[in-house]
Amino acid sequence: MSETWKRRTKMVHSGSRRSQYNEVSEAIFLTQGFVYDTAEAAEARFIKAGDDEFIYARYGNPTVAMFEDRIAGLEGTEDGFATASGMAAVSGALTSMLRAGDHVVSARALFGSCLYVLEEVLTRFGVEVTFVDGTDIDQWRAAIRPDTRAVFFETVSNPTLDVVDIRAVADLAHASGATVIVDNVFATPVFSRAVEQGADVVIYSATKHIDGQGRALGGVILGTREFIRGTVEPYMKHTGGSMSPFTAWIMLKGLETIDLRVRAQAETALRIANELQGDARLARVIYPGHPSHAQHELVTAQMGQGGTVLALDLAGGQGAAFRFLNALDIVVISNNLGDAKSIATHPATTTHQRLPDAAKAQLGITPGLVRLSVGLEDPDDLIEDITRALDASG
Ligand SMILES: Cc1ncc(COP(=O)(O)O)c(C=O)c1O
Repeated sequence: MSETWKRRTKMVHSGSRRSQYNEVSEAIFLTQGFVYDTAEAAEARFIKAGDDEFIYARYGNPTVAMFEDRIAGLEGTEDGFATASGMAAVSGALTSMLRAGDHVVSARALFGSCLYVLEEVLTRFGVEVTFVDGTDIDQWRAAIRPDTRAVFFETVSNPTLDVVDIRAVADLAHASGATVIVDNVFATPVFSRAVEQGADVVIYSATKHIDGQGRALGGVILGTREFIRGTVEPYMKHTGGSMSPFTAWIMLKGLETIDLRVRAQAETALRIANELQGDARLARVIYPGHPSHAQHELVTAQMGQGGTVLALDLAGGQGAAFRFLNALDIVVISNNLGDAKSIATHPATTTHQRLPDAAKAQLGITPGLVRLSVGLEDPDDLIEDITRALDASG
């Protein structure tokens, strides 16, 4: 890979490895294992595998390695480890580096499964977790201690789209020697400059914008070579959360078009936000790229654009939200995001259903809140569909 390539070139070419056939499109090495010429060669590879040597697909595979190299090249990290899902990446990054007695500070506004890992799993193994309001830098300052091993946050939170100031939190964390781990799903690899802004480890659910066409689950952990190969890989390869070669191929193809897709989706999301602002049926229209967002200045500095997701809070509560969802024609009711197809989700009864009502209220997950992931359909058709469904919600 040429270090001078710009991002769109890296999205198409980084990490490519050609077989003896010199194929144009990346080959799918759909094999669990690899043959050794001799018993001595097998022994030597188990002692130390070279850069282009593989042992078993749970440890690594040429197609998976292409995906890891491409996304690492894009994000600007030394290395990456591809995982079976976004949650395998979140839990793998945290569990591989933490041990009983460690302290972690995390933003409270998280995707339900991320919250489960921090609140239920890590604490069960003796890790102490302090939750803070991720948008309040004073709470981070008060919570980070000399013994804090890691801080964790979604750079843009699911589903209320709070934005955390990566640079400010990273400065505090680094002063205590803590590792900054960010779940960067909503920022997308297109708008992310997380490493430049201070993140040490960047995580994506590749299920979202990287695939972008609703086909496969996947994830990736990005960081220094030492962290990925020394900490993450031993844990992942022995516990079994690796990405399959076929999934890696889908994700490689996704990366080729991600820039075009995500920019078009973000442009439509802004148009929808502009259209819906001030609509009396909506108590709130939350879109990080709109000037009305409480942290719009930070969004502009950190991401440049607002991303592909909006949150609409229907003034009529859950009844109105359900009538709105049921009246949508083009936008489908589902729970993925970043897809070519626009998707609407009711977080309070689905992705965040597990949370007690008080916790939902604290996070702003109101009964009327609908998360809208904007796809690649014609913007006029989407606006017509959404406004017609709003008419039916009253
Ligand atoms: C912010 C965030 N992190 C992680 C995940 C988990 O990703 P996956 O479904 O690929 O496991 C999601 C999924 O919705 C998410 O929104």
